Amino acid sequence: MTTRPYIVGNWKMHGTRAMLAEARAIDRAAERLIKAEVAIAPPFTLIHATRKEANLIGIGAQDVHPADGGAHTGDVSAAMVKDAGAGFTIVGHSERRANHQETNELVKEKAEAAIAAGMSVIVCVGETEAERDSGEAESVVAKQLEGSLPTGDGVAEKVTVAYEPVWAIGTGRTPTVEDVGAMHRSIREKLVAIYGEEGSAVRILYGGSVKPDNAAELLAADEVGGALVGGASLTAESFLGIIIAAAELQDEKS
Ligand code: 13P
Repeated sequence: MTTRPYIVGNWKMHGTRAMLAEARAIDRAAERLIKAEVAIAPPFTLIHATRKEANLIGIGAQDVHPADGGAHTGDVSAAMVKDAGAGFTIVGHSERRANHQETNELVKEKAEAAIAAGMSVIVCVGETEAERDSGEAESVVAKQLEGSLPTGDGVAEKVTVAYEPVWAIGTGRTPTVEDVGAMHRSIREKLVAIYGEEGSAVRILYGGSVKPDNAAELLAADEVGGALVGGASLTAESFLGIIIAAAELQDEKS
């Protein structure tokens, strides 16, 4: 069985209601391109409206607080984003790890809270440029996986991992296809060590400067089950280029 490539747009802190037209266009295209599974994670403020505009694609959040509720000014719980229409949430994005000092422990708590609320999660990991240059990329990512992945019975099927090298995010630089494949194989080994047999079915997305013109080769790398896309997911036109590449690749496989 081949699973469909999972193409997720992370809109980050972009988008007001004017962007709903893009979501609608992406949704309409996804209806035709059924060989790929498509989702977007808009900012909190657009989750509800995007869910109403788009019927076919998945809608998710970019983060959640680990608590169910309480005195946490400015934070949003998993139950709240689910109520707004989110089916999944991203956790542990490197921008949150860096800008909000999020630790592996906190990322794991967030992932477990989201799963307890009935959502699935995309757990992000990735090394900095200095860590790659010093040959530590795989060990850094392995440690992030050990510390950040939710554990417990049946959680593996709720988990997607996104490998996003920090130095490739928003820079237009990407690792070589060989490096992507090597990292994804190493992540797969770790997933099987953590989850046992179920770890072999967890999807591993690549993220970092994925564009329509490099999507096909990155998606074809070993153990790559899809892409987490930032900048190129902000317009239907460029996001569609990536979705088409994914769908074509799937056509070749089947
Ligand atoms: P870019 O695609 O803009 O490099 O962003 C990647 C990313 O961080 C997605 O979560």
